[in-house]
Amino acid sequence: IKTIGVMTSGGDAPGMNAAIRAVTRAGICKGFNIKGIYRGYDGLINDEIRDFTTENVSGIIMLGGTILKTARSKEFQTPEGRQKAYDNMMKHGIDALVVIGGNGSLTGAKIFAEEFDVCCIGLPGTVDNDLYGTDSTIGYNTTLNTIMECVDRIRDTAQSHERIFFVEVMGRDAGFLAQNSAIACGAEAAIIPEDSTDVDQLARFMERGIRKSKKSCIVIVSESPKCGALYYAERVRKEFPDYDVRVSILGHLQRGGRPTAHDRILASRTGVGAIDAIMQGQRNVMIGVRNNEIVYVPFSDAIRSDKPFDKKLITVLDELSI
Ligand code: F6P
Repeated sequence: IKTIGVMTSGGDAPGMNAAIRAVTRAGICKGFNIKGIYRGYDGLINDEIRDFTTENVSGIIMLGGTILKTARSKEFQTPEGRQKAYDNMMKHGIDALVVIGGNGSLTGAKIFAEEFDVCCIGLPGTVDNDLYGTDSTIGYNTTLNTIMECVDRIRDTAQSHERIFFVEVMGRDAGFLAQNSAIACGAEAAIIPEDSTDVDQLARFMERGIRKSKKSCIVIVSESPKCGALYYAERVRKEFPDYDVRVSILGHLQRGGRPTAHDRILASRTGVGAIDAIMQGQRNVMIGVRNNEIVYVPFSDAIRSDKPFDKKLITVLDELSI
């Protein structure tokens, strides 16, 4: 392998730039040519590929977003799109691809590698933390901290007005962001997909909390097309018309901003790990960190939908929110 292409794909996540930097610099350090591919798989299909030097990645470690831009490519989901992507890879002499992205992006890499027998290496880049086989994903820690800062502010107004706030956070189908931000913020409850929350239970719980000493209450709700924060707020309004209920959907502000030291270090370690993996002849694995060790996770495992969720976190929140 002489030339490595690097791209970011799917939703941007803070720390992706640190990962691009790490792949580029470690690759150059080990004697590879590096090519930056813009706009994810779309850029591979549309030939948006540039030679990268160490200067291309100077001064970016502290930036959120991704200098390579990103996209959720529809065309790459078709055999014709993947053929075009492969042809462009060959045209540029790219023998290995490093894809920084989440579940959908690594699923794409898996299919591509099976179809064309190319070397693809994944880096876990998503705020959702929903990739199996790695303790954390690049962007997750930053987003957790961003949510915490936002909810701390919401707490000020919730307490001043004695209101119940339903705060909706990202996570797609996973409750890692919701559960852990709830613990970090001292929220009264979290509603997550990993735990079935009956709205009556929630109402009873809130009544208990409010009856005791609390006059305000914060419930973190994991995003969901049908049962998001608005849904729960409506139900509680109906059952407790005396309560002053508000909803705050944090939205995309959760994905922006300067990456934390944790995410920069994770991105740097896994980026260097990607180049090491290529040199060792690894193919079609995601580079993760488990128990502080670099691990190679086959794509088929990384994209599994059953990443273990520590149910003890639910008890921690319950016991501390009395
Ligand atoms: O996967 C990252 C994520 O931020 C999810 O938490 C969220 O559901 C989704 O992306 C939002 O995607 P978009 O930016 O395309 O609206």
